[in-house]
Amino acid sequence: MIVIGVNAAYHEPAAAILVDGLLVAAAEEERFNRVRHGWRATPQNRLLPMKAIGFCLAAAGIDNCKVDFVAYSFDPWRRRLRAWSEDFPLSLVEGDYGTVTGETEFFNATLAKESALRALFPNAKFSYFEHHECHAASAFFSSPFDDAAVLVVDGIGESATTWMGFGSGSTIEPIAEISYPDSLGFLWEKISEFVGFDPYDGPGKLMALARTCENNDCIARFSDAFDSFVTIRSGNFSLDPIVCRFRERGCAGLEQAFRLKRESLDLGAIAALATVLQDTTEKILRCLADSLWKTLNGSALITSRLCLAGGVALNCVANQALASSSSWEDMWVQPAANDAGTAIGAAQLAWYRCLAKTSRVEMLSPYLGPSYTSNECEDALLRAGLAARKPACPSRYVAEQLAAGATVAWFQGRMEWGPRALGNRSILASPSDRRFREVLNSQTKGREAFRPFAPAIPCDRLHEYFNGNTSDMRLRRFMLTTLNASALAREVAPAALHNQGGGLPDTARVQSVDRAISPLFAELLTEFGSLTGVPILLNTSFNIGEPIVASPGDACRTFIASSLDCMVLGPYVVERRR
Ligand SMILES: [Fe+2]
Repeated sequence: MIVIGVNAAYHEPAAAILVDGLLVAAAEEERFNRVRHGWRATPQNRLLPMKAIGFCLAAAGIDNCKVDFVAYSFDPWRRRLRAWSEDFPLSLVEGDYGTVTGETEFFNATLAKESALRALFPNAKFSYFEHHECHAASAFFSSPFDDAAVLVVDGIGESATTWMGFGSGSTIEPIAEISYPDSLGFLWEKISEFVGFDPYDGPGKLMALARTCENNDCIARFSDAFDSFVTIRSGNFSLDPIVCRFRERGCAGLEQAFRLKRESLDLGAIAALATVLQDTTEKILRCLADSLWKTLNGSALITSRLCLAGGVALNCVANQALASSSSWEDMWVQPAANDAGTAIGAAQLAWYRCLAKTSRVEMLSPYLGPSYTSNECEDALLRAGLAARKPACPSRYVAEQLAAGATVAWFQGRMEWGPRALGNRSILASPSDRRFREVLNSQTKGREAFRPFAPAIPCDRLHEYFNGNTSDMRLRRFMLTTLNASALAREVAPAALHNQGGGLPDTARVQSVDRAISPLFAELLTEFGSLTGVPILLNTSFNIGEPIVASPGDACRTFIASSLDCMVLGPYVVERRR
C-alpha cells in the first residue's frame, strides 16, 4: 500500500511517501529547485513539488501507477467557508489572499493541482486534509507517544492559525482553534518585514537577536507597545488587526504602535524588539499549553505528553522555555515543523483515518532525503574539476584537519528532513576558536555577525557540557530545543554557543548525535574528541544563500564559491589550494 503526501498550499512545498505505513522518504522541493522555501506563497501558484515527488517515487522504487493514495495537506472547500472580503476594513492588495479575486484564484489553483495529481497518479484515491490536522498528525503520529496533547502554531491554514487537539493511538481529534488574523506566525513575518528582514528568513534572525539587547528602556518601550495590541487570555490570544495589517503592504500600523519609522531602527533597537517578540511568543505558547493541560487533565491525568508542530515550533528557545516551565513531562516536535511537515502528516492521516490502519512507527531518523553513490560523488568532482584524494579513514583524516583549524564541508549519506543540517550536509569547524564565528558568518556564508552556530556532540557526552534535562534525547537529536551551557562548554566551545545579554546564561541549539542513527558523524566527533579532548564540533548548514545542498553537484559548486578549506564528499576529500 503506497501513500504519497503532498504540500503545495503556500510555501515549503514537499512530498513524503509511506510504503505499508513506513515513512520511506521525504524531501522539500527547495533542495531540488534551489529556491529557498521552494517558492513564495501566492494565490495564483499552480505549481506542484514535482522534483520532490519524483525523488519519493524513486526512493520507494515504484512508478506513479503503483501509488494507492494521494493526500494533499490543504482543504480548499473548508477555506471557502469563510467570507474573507467581509472580514477587515483594510486596504488589501487586489488579487492577494483575502480579496474576492485572490480567494477565487486560490480555490481554482488548488483544484487545478488536484486535477494534475489525479492525472499523475491514475490509480490512486485523492483526498484533501485540513492543514492544521496535517501539522498535528506529522507531530503525533511520528512521536513515540501512545497518547499526547497536540499544539500547532503557524501563520495560517485554511482559516485557523492555531490548533489544539489530542492524539491517541491511530486517531487525532481537535479540541480548539484560533482563527486569522490572530496569528503568531504572521506576527513574526510582519515584524521581520518591519525591521527590514525577509518575511520567511527573518524569524530566524530575530530569534538570534532576541535577548542580546541590554537596553532595558528600549525593551520596556516595545513591551508597552506590544501590550497595546497583543492580548493574552486563558487558552487564547488576539492581535489588533488594525496594528498588524498582515495582508496590507507596508507597516503603518506597527510604526504607529511603536511610534517610530522603520528607517530609524538600528541593530540595538531590532534586538530589543526581537526580545519582546520572543517573550510574547513564550507567554502565548505557555498560555496555550497550560490551557490544553487543564482541558485534558482537568479532573484526572489523561496525558502528560505534548507534541508540537507549525512554523512557530521551530523556535528552539521557546521550546526550551515550554519544556522547563510547564506541566508537560515529555515533548516531541516534528523536525519539519514548518509547512513541509504537512506532507508527512497528510500521508499519515490517509493511512490511519482513511485506510483504517493502526500500527505506529516512531520517526527516529531525520535522514529521509536522497543519497548518492561513490561513483556519483566522483563524477561530480570530475565535472567540477576538483582534485580529490580517498583517505583510508576519512573521519580520522578530517578530524585531524578540523583539529588543525580547518573549516570543512561534510557531505555524507541521506539528506536531512527539516530545515536543520544534522551532520549529513554540514559545515564543520572546531568550536574552541571564537574566530570561526566571524570567519564562517562573514567570509564563508556572507551573513550577519550576530548569527549563532550550533554544537554537535555525542549523546553520551552531553551532560558533561550542558545543563538541563540532558537525558531526553528526542528533541536534541533533531536540534529542536536549546540548553544552557556549562562553565566547561563556555571554556572549550565558545564559538558554538549563543551569547545572551543581561547576565543570562549562554545557550546552544545542541544536536546530540546518536551513534545508532548517525554512525559516521558520531565517529567523526569521537575522533575529534580523541585528538583535542573536546568531542564537540561547530555545525552549520552546508549552503551559501541557497537552500542546503542536496546533490554532489550542489556541494561542488558551493565549495568552489566558498572560502572553506576542505570538502568531504562521501569517501573523497578535496582540499583547497592556497
Ligand atoms: Fe502551516
